[in-house]
Amino acid sequence: MADPVFLATAVEIVLRAGEIQLERRASGFRVQKKGAIDLVTEVDFECEHMCRAILAERFPDHDVLAEEFGSEATGRPPARWRWVFDPLDGTTNYAHGLPIFCASLGLEIDGRREVGAIYDPTRRELFTAERGAGAYVNGLPLVVSQTPRLLDALLVTGFPYDVHQKAQDLVGLFGAFLGRGRAVRRLGSAALDLCYVAAGRFDGFWEQYLKPWDVAAGALVVEEARGRITGMDGSPFEAAAGHLVASNGHVHDDMLAVIREFRATRARKGTED
Ligand code: IPD
Ligand code: CA
Ligand code: CA
Repeated sequence: MADPVFLATAVEIVLRAGEIQLERRASGFRVQKKGAIDLVTEVDFECEHMCRAILAERFPDHDVLAEEFGSEATGRPPARWRWVFDPLDGTTNYAHGLPIFCASLGLEIDGRREVGAIYDPTRRELFTAERGAGAYVNGLPLVVSQTPRLLDALLVTGFPYDVHQKAQDLVGLFGAFLGRGRAVRRLGSAALDLCYVAAGRFDGFWEQYLKPWDVAAGALVVEEARGRITGMDGSPFEAAAGHLVASNGHVHDDMLAVIREFRATRARKGTED
């Protein structure tokens, strides 16, 4: 197992990010646009600066990849340790005053997810995982749901910021799942979507066009809660690939089948047009 100092540091950083998020929510913050509908707030930057400062001080030889400043040039070869941070996952919610957001920090060692911490400050829920040591919420063990069938499953998904260009495809797949599951939600925080699969609150989650910082910690939380995570085509999960299906395992193959059938129908229609 990884050195315990890594999980302790990850927890310290996401808790601190949560404090900043709550303080600034009360005191006010500026919002800018990164794209037509893609927002960034002062709080995203503030949380990322805080994280980078702590990691640089404690682990100067580690790499850091985070959403707002990417991977800053270190001038040395890639390190064995890479921290992957989303300073505010759920920025659109945060900017609109909707209390569904978190900070998410994962650590990869030699390219493998080893540690993850995600903190939702409005519910005061701290999700943690270490490879081989299980997943926890506020110290209590997490395990995925036992829902056996897609028909009984509560599902969740998300949409990328270029949804306007991809609406037909994304909404088409959303509709295909609506027709097969009990219900489908869209919360606006991929990191929390993953934690909620781990906690058994959702039975399955799918999303595409994600970034490594959206999933670096949450994927480990699902794995350690005995869930299953793959690409949307059933391939082994890769954070860099940007697409995933995460589930309780029981509904996984049926979710993959819904995606496969939807894509096959789209491809057939495309060649008929
Ligand atoms: C977004 C959220 C959202 C997901 C988007 C992400 P951000 O992250 O996780 O749920 O659907 O794909 O970009 O911008 O709030 O950090
Ligand atoms: Ca994010
Ligand atoms: Ca973010």
